[in-house]
Amino acid sequence: MDEVHLRRRDDGAIELRVNGVFVMDDVETASERLLARHVLEAGSRRVLVGGLGLGFTTRELLAHPHVEHVVVAELHGEIVEWMRDGTIPGADLLADPRLDVVVGDVRDIVTAQPPHGLDAIVLDVDNGPDFLVHDENRALYGPGFIATCAGRLRPGGRLSVWSMADSEPLRRAMAEHLVDVRAVAVPVELQGRPEHYWVVSGRQGDDFAGGG
Ligand SMILES: C[S@@+](CC[C@H](N)C(=O)[O-])C[C@H]1O[C@@H](n2cnc3c(N)ncnc32)[C@H](O)[C@@H]1O
Repeated sequence: MDEVHLRRRDDGAIELRVNGVFVMDDVETASERLLARHVLEAGSRRVLVGGLGLGFTTRELLAHPHVEHVVVAELHGEIVEWMRDGTIPGADLLADPRLDVVVGDVRDIVTAQPPHGLDAIVLDVDNGPDFLVHDENRALYGPGFIATCAGRLRPGGRLSVWSMADSEPLRRAMAEHLVDVRAVAVPVELQGRPEHYWVVSGRQGDDFAGGG
């Protein structure tokens, strides 16, 4: 059973930890927001997001008027409840009629989607394949789950994955099922130091016609 902790630090920031491991705070959120913009720029209207967290990716998506439907899969129900009761800012997000938050594992929630109906899948459920908070999430970065994601994307649809570091194995796994695979460095500032986080992405071929 995971222990999920939310705390307000002395500097006023909200910090999320799972089993004692830092997951995120609300100070440096450029990469979470860029993850959303990456699929918005591709014209996505129906998006599935893995990981509600503090809601920055979801907020960026819903700020776009062309977005029609966002499904968010969140493993920990307490995070959704904290957002609902105002402990985490974002009750307004949960009230958006375009948003469905489903408590559960993103693997099951992606698998349950109809084939080729999504414009984009955005995964930010862990710190990337090399810095796992949940060991069980390792499979999310492998070819099996990426094939499942590819099977839920429309032709041209995009899979974008947040990662603490670029990952050649992740790019290779994506390239088995998607085209135009790339890793984009996002400059961030961590405790005053310039660093990079990464968005690794690929898209379903435009002429894709079946399977999955
Ligand atoms: C880094 S946070 C997401 C940050 C989010 N992008 C934002 O903008 O705030 C990761 C989230 O994924 C959730 N999570 C972890 N594993 C998951 C899984 N297998 N399925 C669904 N959610 C998961 C965690 O509970 C946490 O809320």
